[in-house]
Amino acid sequence: PVLVVDYGAQYAQLIARRVREADTYSEIVPSSTPVAEILAKDPAAVILSGGPSSVYAEGAPQVDPALFEAGVPVLGICYGFQAMAKALGGEVARTGQREYGGTAAALPNAAESTLLRDQPAEQPVWMSHGDSVSRAPEGFRVTASTDGTPVAAFEDDERRLYGVQWHPEVKHSTHGQDVLVNFLRHGAGIDPDWTTGNVIEEQVARIKAQIGDGKVICALSGGVDSAVAGALVQRAVGDQLTCVFVDHGLLRAGEAEQVEKDFVAATGVKLHVVDAVQRFADALDGVSDPEQKRKIIGREFIRVFEQAARDVVAKEGTDGGEVRFLVQGTLYPDVVESGGGTGAATIKSHHNVGGLPDDLAFELVEPLRALFKDEVRAVGVQLGLPEAMVYRQPFPGPGLAIRIVGAVTPERLEILRAADAIARAELTAAGLDRDIWQCPVVLLADVRSVGVQGDGRTYGHPVVLRPVSSEDAMTADWTRLPYDVLARISTRITNEVPEVNRVVLDVTSKPPGTIEWE
Ligand code: XMP
Repeated sequence: PVLVVDYGAQYAQLIARRVREADTYSEIVPSSTPVAEILAKDPAAVILSGGPSSVYAEGAPQVDPALFEAGVPVLGICYGFQAMAKALGGEVARTGQREYGGTAAALPNAAESTLLRDQPAEQPVWMSHGDSVSRAPEGFRVTASTDGTPVAAFEDDERRLYGVQWHPEVKHSTHGQDVLVNFLRHGAGIDPDWTTGNVIEEQVARIKAQIGDGKVICALSGGVDSAVAGALVQRAVGDQLTCVFVDHGLLRAGEAEQVEKDFVAATGVKLHVVDAVQRFADALDGVSDPEQKRKIIGREFIRVFEQAARDVVAKEGTDGGEVRFLVQGTLYPDVVESGGGTGAATIKSHHNVGGLPDDLAFELVEPLRALFKDEVRAVGVQLGLPEAMVYRQPFPGPGLAIRIVGAVTPERLEILRAADAIARAELTAAGLDRDIWQCPVVLLADVRSVGVQGDGRTYGHPVVLRPVSSEDAMTADWTRLPYDVLARISTRITNEVPEVNRVVLDVTSKPPGTIEWE
């Protein structure tokens, strides 16, 4: 693999993703990893990420110079660039002057450079640093500079060591991806081989090896992760897999059918459906407190799934091996955030609703553990899953129950489903699906306002549109949707959903507002 050493900023994951976009497998390791351990992973190259520290700060992570003597190609970025310069005997000056944001870089020798080959001699780069390299270490050639930073990039082809002060992984550095590709191909001599087809082949082989002729179950939520994980396992072991789908009646229009019909048609998966609609409706009856709703749904889900698992075990267990394995759609970012260890991912507790209890006696199969979300989607497409499922926006485990402000009833669910379907259809028709992170539609079920329609007075409910833009759902901004799209959504909802006579727009960022209303 290409190892990205994480110096503690949020950039390491982005670098790893960009490396994979260059069809090269990459993994992230913490900066505390000893060099011996890094080398034991037999890396094709190492990239030192940016980080928030000054190399002079007390306790700032350093690079062990032994890394540069191992013959492994290394690229230092931002903090990694400075740490590299310092470790190799260059000089890093405490300028006390910050360079932040888009900056013009001059690359006078780009033509002769390995890292910057074929690049314009002048280009915008994204900077974010305080200290600067003031003298390159012995043996290095300086290949770029900016007004504030005379040594903005350097390289030593002989030792295959490279560095840039700017952030090639962010899109604001317009030729950033070329820097990474040049490093991988020409600096490190790595052939691109991390493609979706190879990922599938590799995972299928792994799953086969893990499961052997055992039996396995997978809980489908309707979301992309569990669908792709299930489809991969099906590809590997066919009918040894049973997928379980608990229909809790809180999904959006068409989503249960997507699982029960389209997913099954696309994969040939053996599906065990539990109709728990009435059970969830009864359990939620009269409950309007958001935390209560979440707790009830989480509790009921676990009970229903446990029963379903017992049923599947009873049915499957008699014929060949018993059901020993459970599929989980854990993704690489969860693995990294939980310290990269082998244990299960720690997910915020409220995100665990729809997750499973860990005392079920199953061995986990996690075929997406090495993948980022965009890779999961690419795998899903290649496995032939329906686009609507693969590109589905994030949807909370407790479903529409936490988008009804007030008690959940079957009638209110119908109203919200109808309004939500219209908003989704119009956003899709406007080609906006991939520009927004998600757009919850919220029914203010306990609020009424006066309206007029035809000749009559109405006394209906408002729905809220909550379009947000985000990278990771931790922070978000409200999306400036075009007025004409908003107008069409509003007109259609108020015309076609009789109980709704007002559509309002939520213009709150996160923080202070969360994305969901409950
Ligand atoms: P908030 O509302 O906390 O939501 O800003 C952040 C993201 O998480 C989703 N979300 C959930 N996902 N189970 C989930 O699987 C949950 O209980 C849950 N609650 C919120 C939300 O849709 C957004 O993408």
